[in-house]
Amino acid sequence: MDNIYDLRIGDRQVSIPVAISSMAGVTDGAYIRDRAEYVGIGFIGGYAIDEPTISAARELSHQGREEFLPRDPIAEIAAQVALVESAGVIPGINIRASEVNCMVALAKEIGDRAIYEIDAHCRQQAMIEAGCGEYLLTNPQKLLSYVQALKITGVTVSVKIRAGVAPNDGELARLLWKAGADIIHVDLMDFGPIKLRDIRNACPVFLIANNGITDFEKAKEYFAHGADMVSLARSSDVKTLSAISQALAQFTREHGWYNSPKQLCRGGDIRSLAFCCLPVKPCPLLPALEKLKISPQDFVAMKMEGVKDTILEGGTSTCFGSLAYCCKDTTPCMFRDGTLKQAGIKRSVYMQQKRELARKIMQKIFS
Ligand SMILES: Cc1cc2nc3c(=O)[nH]c(=O)nc-3n(C[C@H](O)[C@H](O)[C@H](O)COP(=O)(O)O)c2cc1C
Ligand code: SF4
Ligand code: SF4
Repeated sequence: MDNIYDLRIGDRQVSIPVAISSMAGVTDGAYIRDRAEYVGIGFIGGYAIDEPTISAARELSHQGREEFLPRDPIAEIAAQVALVESAGVIPGINIRASEVNCMVALAKEIGDRAIYEIDAHCRQQAMIEAGCGEYLLTNPQKLLSYVQALKITGVTVSVKIRAGVAPNDGELARLLWKAGADIIHVDLMDFGPIKLRDIRNACPVFLIANNGITDFEKAKEYFAHGADMVSLARSSDVKTLSAISQALAQFTREHGWYNSPKQLCRGGDIRSLAFCCLPVKPCPLLPALEKLKISPQDFVAMKMEGVKDTILEGGTSTCFGSLAYCCKDTTPCMFRDGTLKQAGIKRSVYMQQKRELARKIMQKIFS
């Protein structure tokens, strides 16, 4: 299949913007391999890799929880990574560690074939006491130092967080991104898409949204609020994953941009500036620009620069004289559609161009 999603993490192409989120004792290489057709990243683990976290995992296992407790964690993880890789899925390793050296040693051993995901999510008391999981969300300096140390080894780093634990998830995400994190994988708990939008608006990091996804509609809601990918754990059965991946492919063929945001006035994230009008009337655009410290004049310059020499530059019969200011394809409009038809441009291509414009706007804002 062509890559209709045009999605990369580092220099790797992600085949489908759906991931399997780790479940200790459950998600190993074979689990991911059996679902490989429907996912782009498979997070195996969580694996405890040092003495304090291995003891915590043993304690949890005695309490009846499933845990991976291999005799030789590094050799076991390497074998599971190879299994995921050979199934054509990008492997991610969810890691529980009480200090950074063992994570760095793992990264040096396995190399950049895998994504290294720091588990700052687990809320089991034994893990927190071992200094990992949620402990890291309440000790962010430690978490940031882990990200930096792993990044120095040259690997791709993800941080799995649970929303609502840190005082400000958007600010934490921004600091993690600045420290070099490539991915933030967020369990949104009951906070839902608005929390996701806050994180999206705080930084341009690759975002994976997680919790309670059981169908395409829910996945779409997260995509429309800033997710680059969604992930499933408890519902990561073949039937659910295959239904989501099929619906997502169909949607993307039709609409071009699989994770297009809602319009700003309908609660869209910062990427929706690509759809905003000329700033000439009182509406949510002006306060949004003020917050970003962008003058209306600079916004106009940003848009026009972004569409220069593209199909969005034209459109004299649209409201503001250029498709740069036109709405989403799902908003009915005979002026925009007439312009596209006359120029022989498919609506999906129009939306792909809007995606490019949003990328340029994000780059400008966060550079
Ligand atoms: C049995 C089980 C084990 C889990 N183990 C881990 C883990 O080791 N590391 C981690 O980051 N998240 C772990 N999680 C959390 C999931 O990855 C996911 O964030 C959570 O279940 C919410 O997503 P869902 O609604 O798709 O299940 C676990 C969840 C379950 C149900
Ligand atoms: S500029 Fe247009 S699209 Fe943007 S918030 Fe205002 S009315 Fe909505
Ligand atoms: S021409 Fe249509 S799509 Fe373009 S800004 Fe006006 S209403 Fe929106």
